[in-house]
Parts: sequence; structure tokens; C-alpha cells
Amino acid sequence: MRLKDKVAIITGAANGIGLTASEVFAREGAKVAMADFNIEQGENSAQILREQGYEVTFFQVNVVDRTSVDLMVEKVQALYGKIEILINNAGITKDAMLSKLSVEDFQAVLDVNLTGVFHCTQAVLPVMITNGKGKIINTSSVSGVYGNVGQTNYAATKAGVVGMTKTWAKELGRKGINVNAVAPGFIETGMTAKVPEKILDQMKQMVPLARLGKPEDIANAYLYLASDESNYVNGTVLHVDGGIMM
Ligand code: CAA
Ligand code: NAI
Repeated sequence: MRLKDKVAIITGAANGIGLTASEVFAREGAKVAMADFNIEQGENSAQILREQGYEVTFFQVNVVDRTSVDLMVEKVQALYGKIEILINNAGITKDAMLSKLSVEDFQAVLDVNLTGVFHCTQAVLPVMITNGKGKIINTSSVSGVYGNVGQTNYAATKAGVVGMTKTWAKELGRKGINVNAVAPGFIETGMTAKVPEKILDQMKQMVPLARLGKPEDIANAYLYLASDESNYVNGTVLHVDGGIMM
């Protein structure tokens, strides 16, 4: 087992990539705090995993709200006594062409995808610093690295995540904390289900591996960066996108 007895917080764990990552991490021996805004789906998903014998607990959190994040971290710490891994996976889209993008939708995406990552990381930091080690994995995107039509707000946040990752890798490395990011391509989840079919087909045609990604493809990258196998990897952005933008 690659994460035996490690305690991991995964945000956005009620659905999609975060849910699959929760399962993969638990299968590898981790105790997983599944943190999400969506209480109904989160509780339900955690229950299904527990029925399979996995050690997972759901915690409701709104990553936008610092009080909510602090409370979630406190509860995880109280239950498991430590936090070794944080996967900043929660994210949203509110796509629109620049000419039509409202200030509210611009800000809403910044709040979750950028401020949320800052909140969760700052909240777990004292625990990791006291332990003298930790793994923080942020979720960027092909859109943040290369831009994407209709995603001014989202691309800004996912590029911002790369900047924060590299900054934290420099600041926290000496404290035994590795900080890395995964930049997924187009992955089959609820998020891409909202993209018009025609555009998804175009994206698929651009992928040398000739398929969209699956949540497992990203969960396995999170797993590598959370495990001891990546102990000398710091400040990197791991592109898991089938080679879409070479
Ligand atoms: N590349 C090139 N042209 C594009 C395009 C693209 N990716 N997307 C849209 N266009 C073009 C359209 O073909 C259209 O051209 P014409 O005016 O010549 O017909 C023009 O831009 C306007 O597009 P729409 O008619 O669709 O405009 P709209 O205002 O109705 O909708 C939109 C705009 C909401 C951005 C819609 O086009 C859309 O949803 N696009 C997909 C955006 C996208 O890729 N989102 C990714 C979500 S998944 C994700 O974010 C995960 C991740 O990290 C990758
Ligand atoms: P998803 O929409 O399936 O799941 C996102 C989860 O985040 C949901 O369960 C939602 O409830 C939760 N969430 C949203 N706002 C929250 C908040 N304020 N507080 C707590 N939880 C909140 O999305 P998916 O596809 O699984 O995406 C996961 C991550 O991967 C996101 O950061 C996304 O931007 C990123 N990503 C996804 C890609 C894709 O193609 N699906 C590609 C590149 C990056």
C-alpha cells in the first residue's frame, strides 16, 4: 500500500475526480477526509466507500469561507490526529466569452478556485509544519497553462494556482513540505458534461491519445505526488492531458 495510514484531505470529493481520488487513496491505505460543499452527494459517496471497507469520512466545507475551512481542518485533526496530505481539488467553471462575462461570474470562480486553495493550504499549514512534513497537491488545468476560449475567469485561476504552487514549493520546502500541481486535460466528469458536444469533439481530436481523460488518470497522478515515491519532486506541474498541447 502506497499511503498506508496517511491522513489525506481531498476537497471537492463528492463528485468526479475528487471522489475517484478518495477511492484510490483509501484503497492505498489512506484515511481520507472527503471535504465538499455538497452535503447530500458527499455523505452518500462516503457511505458507499465505507460499505466497501474504506476508511473515509465526509466533512462539509465551503472552501470560499475561511471559518468553514478552519472548522473542517479542526474536525479532521480531532478525528485522525494528523494531516499529511492536502489535495486542493475543489473547483468550478462559469464559462462565457469575455464580452459576455459578468463581474459576478468572474469573481465567483476566483473565490472557489483561487481563494479556496489559499484558505485550505493556509489552514493545514500549522499541522504540517509541526509534523515537519506534508504533501500539498493543487489542481491546475490545461486551460490555465494554454488558455481556453470562454474561460477568462477559470484560466486566470488555474494559471494562478501554478504561481501559488511554485511560490509555496520555495517557501515550504525547507519545512519538509512538498508542493506540486497536476494540470489535467479534458476529463470525463460533470464539469465537462456541460461543454457543448461539438467543442468536446474538437478537443478530443487534438489529443494524441485520441480520448478524453478519466477521473482515474488524475487520481493516479495525485497518488504519485502524495506518495513517498515523489519525495524529491517539488514545485512541478504534472501535465496529465494525453499530450493535448504539445
Ligand atoms: N475554439 C474555437 N472557437 C470556439 C470555441 C473554441 N473552443 N468555443 C466557442 N467558439 C466559437 C464558436 O464556434 C462561435 O463561433 P461563431 O460565432 O463563428 O459561430 C463563437 O466562438 C461563440 O461561441 P458560442 O456561440 O458557443 O457562444 P456562447 O456565448 O453561446 O457560449 C461559451 C460561449 C459558454 C464559452 C460556449 O462556447 C462554451 O461552453 N464553450 C466551451 C468552453 C470550454 O471549453 N469549457 C471547458 C469546461 S471543462 C473545464 O473547464 C475543465 C478543464 O479544466 C479543461
Ligand atoms: P466536478 O464538478 O465533478 O466536482 C467538483 C466538486 O467540487 C463538486 O463535488 C463540488 O460540490 C465541489 N465544490 C465546488 N465548489 C465548492 C466549494 N466552494 N467548497 C467545497 N467544494 C466545492 O469537477 P471535476 O471535473 O471533478 O474537477 C475537479 C478539479 O479538477 C477542479 O479543480 C477542476 O477545475 C479540475 N479540472 C477538471 C478538469 C475536467 O476536465 N474535468 C480538467 C482540468 C482541471
